[in-house]
Amino acid sequence: MKLLSNSLMFLPLLALALTAVSSLKYSRNDFPPGFVFGSGTSAYQVEGAADEDGRTPSIWDVFAHAGHSGVAAGNVACDQYHKYKEDVKLMADMGLEAYRFSISWSRLLPSGRGPINPKGLQYYNNLIDELITHGIQPHVTLHHFDLPQALEDEYGGWLSQEIVRDFTAYADTCFKEFGDRVSHWTTINEVNVFALGGYDQGITPPARCSPPFGLNCTKGNSSIEPYIAVHNMLLAHASATILYKQQYKATARVNDFYIGWILHPLVFGDYPETMKTNVGSRLPAFTEEESEQVKGAFDFVGVINYMALYVKDNSSSLKPNLQDFNTDIAVEMTLVGNTSIENEYANTPWSLQQILLYVKETYGNPPVYILENGLSLSLSASLRL
Ligand SMILES: *[C@@H]1O[C@H](CO)[C@@H](O)[C@H](O)[C@H]1NC(C)=O
Ligand SMILES: *[C@@H]1O[C@H](CO)[C@@H](O)[C@H](O)[C@H]1NC(C)=O
Ligand SMILES: *[C@@H]1O[C@H](CO)[C@@H](O)[C@H](O)[C@H]1NC(C)=O
Ligand SMILES: *[C@@H]1O[C@H](CO)[C@@H](O)[C@H](O)[C@H]1NC(C)=O
Repeated sequence: MKLLSNSLMFLPLLALALTAVSSLKYSRNDFPPGFVFGSGTSAYQVEGAADEDGRTPSIWDVFAHAGHSGVAAGNVACDQYHKYKEDVKLMADMGLEAYRFSISWSRLLPSGRGPINPKGLQYYNNLIDELITHGIQPHVTLHHFDLPQALEDEYGGWLSQEIVRDFTAYADTCFKEFGDRVSHWTTINEVNVFALGGYDQGITPPARCSPPFGLNCTKGNSSIEPYIAVHNMLLAHASATILYKQQYKATARVNDFYIGWILHPLVFGDYPETMKTNVGSRLPAFTEEESEQVKGAFDFVGVINYMALYVKDNSSSLKPNLQDFNTDIAVEMTLVGNTSIENEYANTPWSLQQILLYVKETYGNPPVYILENGLSLSLSASLRL
């Protein structure tokens, strides 16, 4: 679904890259351990089943059926809706570690908002489970050029600020339903390409433009609409991102509360945003002078690490009255490892590596001393060893 001009632009680069690869013979071992190899698609390109199981048209369906030359309809496409198991097996056979795909908004929420389509939900749950079973990370895009036509008809889609509310609710649904298995999310694909193709030249959906900039549209205004559409995409992206950070990125919040509570003021002169949001007026505010004093007031960071925790969002613990640190943090926590023995924590060497990386990446690589670490045992447990 790339613009023609876009593909052309990249052709010479692609040719160069291929030449380089074939002469240098790279292998998996030339890449660092965390490097992820995957493949990518978008919903309308691969799913097919366009009219099946409650899905309604997106702006791509309408565009593809409007008879533009060289534009194919995705009614069947690669039929991934029915063949996802075979597709995932092919990915696994190829040794892929990740699959980037997009969710068809109008398959999950046929009216653009409101009730979930159970069959759509089932399909994405099946696909995600199949990927995870084969050890392939799902990387999910929420909007890949395929706004529900219902919202385009109702209020002009991305041209209206009403889209911010509906996109956020759609994102919330996806985070809630799939967030236990998906940790890589993209909000909107190719914002600039979508705005120029759809609202300046009118050569991709929703096919809006005005002469002399775009020639074949029945409606639109190339002078102003691309800017309005991008503005609303930025607002929708920000709204979904804030929602995710506040309600779903539990791990980040726990790090902010336990580590950032102390380190954030020392490095940046203020408490983390997540703490300010959840603690509100009970969190003292630094005056400008205090902030300057606290900021940078350390020579090294002392790390003490004994245990790791699993965390899960529990926003229901955020109530206006009777709050303390443990309800403000709004998560369920479980110790990693066998906690059946009193005072005995699992030995998790990887958690020391993680905390060191976290401090390095989040707080600007300060000098660190590991002051304590290891296995924490009660005296009786120590004697048993
Ligand atoms: C507009 O439509 C005409 C006739 O179908 C076609 O020849 C021309 O290439 C189109 N122009 C653009 C910019 O899409
Ligand atoms: C597009 O919008 C601008 C700014 O509102 C206006 O000046 C211009 O006349 C409009 N053009 C068309 C083709 O409607
Ligand atoms: C979630 O928060 C609620 C309200 O504070 C609390 O009753 C509940 O026990 C918490 N759930 C877990 C699993 O911690
Ligand atoms: C946890 O430790 C207890 C006490 O040593 C032991 O009985 C139990 O089997 C262990 N559980 C697991 C899951 O390892």
